[in-house]
Amino acid sequence: MDVTPDLLSLNTLFDARHSCRAFRPEPVPRAVIEDILRTAQKVPSWCNAQPWKVTVCSGAEADRVRAALLKAAEGGGHSPDLPFPDGYSAEYQQRRRDCGWALYEAVGVQKGDRAGSARQMMENYRLFGAPHCAILSSPAELGPYGAMDCGGFVAAFTLAARAAGVASIPQAAVASFAPLLHELLEIPDDRIILCAISFGYGDGDHPANSFRTSRAALEHFADWRG
Ligand SMILES: Cc1cc2nc3c(=O)[nH]c(=O)nc-3n(C[C@H](O)[C@H](O)[C@H](O)COP(=O)(O)O)c2cc1C
Repeated sequence: MDVTPDLLSLNTLFDARHSCRAFRPEPVPRAVIEDILRTAQKVPSWCNAQPWKVTVCSGAEADRVRAALLKAAEGGGHSPDLPFPDGYSAEYQQRRRDCGWALYEAVGVQKGDRAGSARQMMENYRLFGAPHCAILSSPAELGPYGAMDCGGFVAAFTLAARAAGVASIPQAAVASFAPLLHELLEIPDDRIILCAISFGYGDGDHPANSFRTSRAALEHFADWRG
């Protein structure tokens, strides 16, 4: 690659990040979390609105969120503030399946094992054992563009965390219990809850962390004109 050293080191960082689905229990020092947040907030946002707010839950508070989510998940009743996609078709469906099967294969869930896949799904609500969970919200009045700006924040948070030696995973699954989170964490109703980011130190020996996803070739997403 004929690239600058900066782009090379950025690629090294991007390549090192992955979504972590098993964490060790040790907490991340508050100063490190603050550094990650200060780095992530450097992303661009429309009008520099910086619409993100993060409700960072640690220790007993993270456990309270975990317990409430696990209890809620047993009863179903998903109600995200931001509607989930109506469906995934064609290449999107394929990629969704591929990453799902890669996870199930890694943790030993066979095709057709509904109990096994449900158990793995519940890991979302256990926050994959992470000692910290950040709930990300955006002002309702900013609509999809607020959510778009927050997407940049999510990407930056996960990369800044990786640079600090901290593993993470964005989780829309947690946002499916938005009413519960509004109440539990006193997040006002004029903000929409977008996702959680669970984070901590990764358990590198856990099978759930043993696979990596791939990316499409450039020609699949770049449409050159002129
Ligand atoms: C907005 C967002 C929501 C996500 N929600 C979940 C989730 O609820 N559960 C989960 O296991 N992974 C979730 N992920 C992680 C994706 O599955 C993961 O980013 C994707 O498969 C690519 O893998 P990688 O992050 O390891 O590169 C989410 C990622 C993003 C960006």
